[in-house]
Amino acid sequence: MSIQRESPVTAVLTGAGLRGREVYGEYALKNPGKLKFLAVADPDLERRRAFQHAHNIPDSLAFESWETLFSPENGKLTDAAFICTQDNLHYRPALAALKKGYHLVLEKPISPSLDECRAIAAMAEKERRKIQVCHVLRFTAFWRKIKELVDSGQIGRVIHYDHSENVSYWHFGHSYVRGNYKNEASSSPVILAKSCHDLDLMYWVIGDKPLSVQSMGDLTHYRPENAPAGAPERCTDGCPEAEACPWYAPRMYMTGEPLLRIGLHAPSRLTRLLANFSLNHRRTLGLSSRFSKSLQGILNWDRFPASVITTDLSPEGKMKALREGPYGRCIYKSGNDVLDHQITTYKFPGGTTGTLTLHGVSELEGREIRIFGTKGTIRGYFRYNGEQITVTGFRYTKSRIVYRAGLSMGGHGGGDFGLIDSFIKVMRGETSPHEAGADIDNALEAHYMSFAAEAARIGQREVPLEKYRETLSP
Ligand SMILES: NC(=O)c1ccc[n+]([C@@H]2O[C@H](COP(=O)([O-])OP(=O)(O)OC[C@H]3O[C@@H](n4cnc5c(N)ncnc54)[C@H](O)[C@@H]3O)[C@@H](O)[C@H]2O)c1
Repeated sequence: MSIQRESPVTAVLTGAGLRGREVYGEYALKNPGKLKFLAVADPDLERRRAFQHAHNIPDSLAFESWETLFSPENGKLTDAAFICTQDNLHYRPALAALKKGYHLVLEKPISPSLDECRAIAAMAEKERRKIQVCHVLRFTAFWRKIKELVDSGQIGRVIHYDHSENVSYWHFGHSYVRGNYKNEASSSPVILAKSCHDLDLMYWVIGDKPLSVQSMGDLTHYRPENAPAGAPERCTDGCPEAEACPWYAPRMYMTGEPLLRIGLHAPSRLTRLLANFSLNHRRTLGLSSRFSKSLQGILNWDRFPASVITTDLSPEGKMKALREGPYGRCIYKSGNDVLDHQITTYKFPGGTTGTLTLHGVSELEGREIRIFGTKGTIRGYFRYNGEQITVTGFRYTKSRIVYRAGLSMGGHGGGDFGLIDSFIKVMRGETSPHEAGADIDNALEAHYMSFAAEAARIGQREVPLEKYRETLSP
């Protein structure tokens, strides 16, 4: 049965971390008429409490773990369940929630195991439940425009699709060297963890399923042998390279310098001036900050990535986290094993090819795309510091700018909230999950593309995709 337009979709949350609390929780607070969280599960007391208080959830509906939330004693509490635990903890809560009758918003990747991905899809079909996988980029104005342009035929038939995922040095260092996604065994191969979004876009924009894949990649830079002479285990232990090292943890997490630097490249002059001032006049900022909370937030950076390292965002709390936790470790000695660059090429029906270049050594965070057709080319960039799409026809004299947007520091360029807007429409029966685009079947294709790419890289061979779509393991 669909939810009435006037009433909000009700939901339970498992995993009140960065995505659960800061993205979907934030959506509910800003859109009380659309989404309301009635229960939460998280073993981390501070995170659970923070979510509970923000959403007025009574103690009786705040659980220490998804196991209790979905236990037989608790019936089905709401319309939907949001599964926002870490990658290797999606499968069991997702299955339990489906069995209880919840529709799901399921964080990507569905699971690091192909069999588990399939089992979740099979359970959803059996229980007739809807699953929206968080491939949020489909819900941005930028990628919708790219899709519309390709579908319009303006550049003719697509011959080659070229997609670069440039992960900035600081974001890669934070998430894939020091953080949650640094080891394949405890998270996923980087092409699944970081790029299943991007492969989903390739499949969607080209409008067909790939036939085969080849891939190569390595962990080249973030390795112990590249540490400067005399670098200690932790940045906080008196590193001689503190000034020169872009990954020096106190600068990254205490002052938010890498994030402020993005402002230096913003299209707006005012933003550039403010970023420049924040970086170079910290003393004056210190004096003025007595009168402004947002200036205090700049001086003692309290947003991503600092918000991930501890819940005590005071300078003392953050320093303690850097001295004791994983985010203060030397970037070259963090015990990481995921690749820091990988190139992957897909062959599509009709001879179209698509490449994905992923790397973690970019000065600016963002994606760059070039789509070469038989009549023209689409070029675009989708970065924190701005977005633009141009179309150049073979017979045009100039490129036409067809889309432009300014600075968007996070939120995936509007995709995070766009995805939930779409889920609400699905729940209200205003669109079907497949039409919305992030249903489990569409999402599975991007997962097959990732698993096959890893098999191709490891086996140093071209891998056909067909067998990944069969029900048995390849
Ligand atoms: N869609 C996107 O663009 C996007 C972006 C970043 C991360 N992600 C994915 O979102 C997921 C969550 O990422 P995050 O950064 O929010 O992680 P996080 O570590 O900040 O949050 C996960 C939370 O799960 C909680 N948890 C652990 N065990 C639990 C249990 N038994 N029951 C309930 N909760 C439990 C943890 O305490 C933690 O608070 C990951 O799968 C990640 O890959 C998606």
